[in-house]
Amino acid sequence: MDFKIQTAELGALAEVGVDALVVVLGGDALAKGLDAVVAKHAQAAIKLGDFALKAGQALTLTHAEGIKAPRLVLAASGKTTLAAARAALAAGLGQIKSRGAVSAAVAFVGFDAGLAESLAEQTALAGTEAVYLYRHTKPSAPAAPKLAKLALLTAKAELKAAKAGLARGEAIAAGIELARECANRPANYATPTYLGEVVQGLGKSHGLKVEVLDKKAVEKLGMGSFLSVAQGSDEPLRFIVARYEGAAKTVAPVVLVGKGITFDTGGISLKPGAEMDEMKFDMGGAASVIGTLRAVAELKPKLNLVMIVAACENMPSGRAVKPGDVVTSMSGQTIEILNTDAEGRLILCDALTYAERFKPAVVVDVATLTGACVIALGGIRSGMYASDDALAASLTAAGDAALDPCWRMPLDEDYAEGLKSNFADVANIAGRAGGSITAAKFLQRFTSKYRWGHLDIAGTAWKGGAAKGSTGRPVGLLTHFVLSHAK
Ligand code: BES
Ligand code: MN
Ligand code: ZN
Repeated sequence: MDFKIQTAELGALAEVGVDALVVVLGGDALAKGLDAVVAKHAQAAIKLGDFALKAGQALTLTHAEGIKAPRLVLAASGKTTLAAARAALAAGLGQIKSRGAVSAAVAFVGFDAGLAESLAEQTALAGTEAVYLYRHTKPSAPAAPKLAKLALLTAKAELKAAKAGLARGEAIAAGIELARECANRPANYATPTYLGEVVQGLGKSHGLKVEVLDKKAVEKLGMGSFLSVAQGSDEPLRFIVARYEGAAKTVAPVVLVGKGITFDTGGISLKPGAEMDEMKFDMGGAASVIGTLRAVAELKPKLNLVMIVAACENMPSGRAVKPGDVVTSMSGQTIEILNTDAEGRLILCDALTYAERFKPAVVVDVATLTGACVIALGGIRSGMYASDDALAASLTAAGDAALDPCWRMPLDEDYAEGLKSNFADVANIAGRAGGSITAAKFLQRFTSKYRWGHLDIAGTAWKGGAAKGSTGRPVGLLTHFVLSHAK
């Protein structure tokens, strides 16, 4: 999708020459200053009972009198919040995306001027999402939508904000698209090796330092926990490290760590068969940090970022790790593996120890970690944990600004009680209760050297059912969070 900003006064929308003019109407009254011809058509449609200024309403008028664009799309948001505007824009684009229009222009009417930057960002995101279609392993997928050019109509006073927002939105959209594509590809395509190649490719195209470690190098580092998960699979593991350097070497980096289980069968603690295919999405954390790396590298902020992905399959086999096995993590702590399906924390703990070498300003890990988090928060908010209140506030703010929200969960020491083991320093599972929290408590043991945040994205990284597919979350949250560290 090609994006551009075009200055236009809201009173002169009728003159805009594109294939489709999309007007997002905020609030329950037609805003003052709205183009009189557009307002006349909206009023007429309301009078006919074909349209209302309510969330979810969208209507296309063809060759509307006095409107230069052959299609006038009216989309109502109801509320004048950013989220409502985004939803209305998506509905508006939904009216035209798979039809004849190649170019479209979007205008937001009735929204606070303070939202201009965020509205521009969301325009890029909604435009990209409207035309994304998975096709890598589906040659019969329909041809890409014709819609290819999207202009944002902006009043002169809001031009600067809109430009900044659009640039950020384009970068985040590219990151989300990469994350979705990686996660949507099946596990026999999106292998650990493939993820390594994707990051190598980003390194080349964006001038990043990339290291892809194989089993031998991981053995040398003493990552006994990560290795124990990988040992059941014939698919070789990868430990991927990439560095974006936008500030002086002395500036402590933000470190993002992603869970890259390219397929999670559960291992010897085998999962039930129903919906097991969805465990190809168990590298959603990895996909999101890779996508964030791309977004950040495109925006070139003045900060340093390190991305770490631990990638392998979790498979049962004659060589697979068994319940009761004790392994030694890179930190030196021994772990009793009581359930081989609690494998995410086993690969992350070694990645979190590895992160120490960067003397990070902050480390945030991202993982499709627990079914319990899906039960707790569903698919709306990611579970968020933070070692201090300021970090929690900053992750919350990033999620809100990006419309990619999270919700803070507790880390009371009492939750760690169930992780005690008679045979190792720690067990990899506690009881069923509070499963997302006990997983976080396990990880916390490996993060004593830095400020630490953890996102459990088991509910938000992908959708099941008819719309099965990766969401690309939380690339938006993470990109906003990383950018908040720019000098
Ligand atoms: N990848 C899963 C978590 C998951 C399950 C995400 C379902 C989304 C949907 C993770 O590796 C896992 O299997 N966790 C176990 C932990 C348990 C054994 C303590 C779980 O949540 O059941
Ligand atoms: Mn598992
Ligand atoms: Zn898993």
